[in-house]
Amino acid sequence: MQISVTKAKDLKPKPDESKLGFGNLFTDHIFNMDYNPDKGWHHPRIEPYAPIVMDPATMVLHYGQAVFEGLKGYRTASGKIQLFRAKDNFARMNRSCNLLCIPELDTDLLLEALKALLKVEKDWVPKAEGTSLYIRPTVIATDPYLGVRASKTYRYFVILSPVGAYYAAGFNPVKIWITKNHVRAVRGGIGEAKTPANYAASLLAGDRATKNGYAQVLWLDGVEQKYVEEVGSMNIFFVIKDELITPMLNGSILPGITRDSVIALAKHWKIKVSERKISIDEVIDSHRSGKLQEIFGSGTAAVISPVGEMKYCDEIMKVGDAKVGPLANRFFKALTDIQYGKAEDPMGWMETVC
Ligand code: COI
Repeated sequence: MQISVTKAKDLKPKPDESKLGFGNLFTDHIFNMDYNPDKGWHHPRIEPYAPIVMDPATMVLHYGQAVFEGLKGYRTASGKIQLFRAKDNFARMNRSCNLLCIPELDTDLLLEALKALLKVEKDWVPKAEGTSLYIRPTVIATDPYLGVRASKTYRYFVILSPVGAYYAAGFNPVKIWITKNHVRAVRGGIGEAKTPANYAASLLAGDRATKNGYAQVLWLDGVEQKYVEEVGSMNIFFVIKDELITPMLNGSILPGITRDSVIALAKHWKIKVSERKISIDEVIDSHRSGKLQEIFGSGTAAVISPVGEMKYCDEIMKVGDAKVGPLANRFFKALTDIQYGKAEDPMGWMETVC
């Protein structure tokens, strides 16, 4: 399929790279493509970034039928732009599409389109240490219709945002709140899909966490509220007695690409790593007995995010003297060195765009 390109006439000024936050600035162009039952996915095009005009009855606005992805473009010291595991993000998007009754997309075309968009927007990939171009592919249901069913038409789009650290704390330990009063997802639902509903479900608890001085919520399973699941913007890892543990994927946890990369690196380094059920009681016991060495999160936006404190009921668990732990540090350095082209890429994860 031919991707058409219409260039923007007026380009926005580029931001001060030392002041980049997360997700508040957008580049000059967007990639768009549409779906209908007759033509399938069609009309791939790069256009000037602009608001999406839609009928107030558009289904995504009412029933949330949408999926999205998050990945990043990185600038290397020699000025090249590279992507990290982009094919894995697009494969995961198709798995999310299946769960949301959205027609799958051709992942080769998505990669080609992303590379074409990045070539148009290459000057937006920041150079400063710790910065990158966050990429947000999204699919939305576009039928103007109020009955509850899957839409027949869809829009796929990709927007780009130059970013710095996701957490205001940067690469410093964050504080996490654990609650039994809210659940994010249940098995058999859509917890493992990257879909807006899961994020909407996290907002009230997230707000309560913030009011209590905590950056994020650590979710427990939605059935027994006993087993640790994920943080919502990242997957979670514990180091207990030199074993690296992360909750096994069970249908209600997002299968993070960074999570998978941490596991792969740990195996490569011959670190004992387990994907298994881990209960909050096990975490508390290991903390009380001094066996809990580290906690950190992993995610595209968050990269590796050390956790310095967790609160569960009235128990406050301080981890690692509020310092970045050695394993979190090792994974952060290894991943970012690969992503920014400072180190060998033993797993073949990187792809050069231009
Ligand atoms: C990501 O890490 O890409 C995410 O999607 C997390 C969040 C910003 C929604």
